[in-house]
Amino acid sequence: MPVDLSPIDPSAPGFVDIYDQLPLWSAPFGLRLLELVPLVREQRILDLGCGTGFLSVELAERSGRDSRVVALDPWSEALERLRRKLRFRGIENVEVVPGRAEALPLADGSFDVVVCNLGIHNVDDPQVALRECERVLRPGGSLLLSTNLSGHMRELYDVYRGVLSDRGLPTEGLDRHEAARGTLEGMRAALEAAGLGVTRAEATSFRLRFADGTAVLEHWFIRLAFLPAWAALVPEDERPGVLGELEARLNERAAAAGELALSVPGAIMVARKP
Ligand SMILES: C[S@@+](CC[C@H](N)C(=O)[O-])C[C@H]1O[C@@H](n2cnc3c(N)ncnc32)[C@H](O)[C@@H]1O
Repeated sequence: MPVDLSPIDPSAPGFVDIYDQLPLWSAPFGLRLLELVPLVREQRILDLGCGTGFLSVELAERSGRDSRVVALDPWSEALERLRRKLRFRGIENVEVVPGRAEALPLADGSFDVVVCNLGIHNVDDPQVALRECERVLRPGGSLLLSTNLSGHMRELYDVYRGVLSDRGLPTEGLDRHEAARGTLEGMRAALEAAGLGVTRAEATSFRLRFADGTAVLEHWFIRLAFLPAWAALVPEDERPGVLGELEARLNERAAAAGELALSVPGAIMVARKP
């Protein structure tokens, strides 16, 4: 069956009600942050780039009702869904704040902890965002963040690179896409440049397992978050052929291995404001 290249429209009515990237993407990193975050009463926590509030809700409940969580994101529909969750669960210690990480509408020194799960590379300027984190932390406060590292899904990217070069198509765009997330050392340098002292720089990785290449390319989250960028590397009239070839080669690989596992490397960083 041809690869379905019809775009998924995130502004479609009802999108946010079914949008749920947690099991596939956010949860492995978010759960690690929950292992490391200080959980004490009466603390003030900022969940930066909270999305639909996976961590905000956990942080609010786990650190007790006398702690306060500010959940911030520019995505108004996601914030509305978070408000519905909070109302339904009767959680009163989360304040939902629309805003951007590069210009936080929050006072200097007003947080003990800032948490950012897979958000730092979604902002327009990560360095400005990190400076803002430093500004809103109190002295001695901590920033905990997770991010993908370069090399995500390298098993798929290697196969795709082969397909492109066999057809005489350029691979530089794919290299740029694969490298976009940066390195552990790059994250460390960015945090230090923002005036924070890195206390933990942990490389981590999880696997996304699929039956085969067809299952990867038909997966809703892959179609939402990755497929459009992969397809855009190829002239429009060649897309069906190129992606069909990618699918076939991934299927061969899966048949040989019994499944198709894609690695997702990431970093967990903890930094402290002096
Ligand atoms: C990959 S999602 C992660 C969401 C959430 N932290 C989680 O773990 O499920 C990235 C989030 O960053 C948000 N975002 C995009 N631009 C932003 C900005 N300039 N400032 C803050 N958040 C931003 C997006 O709206 C999205 O909710």
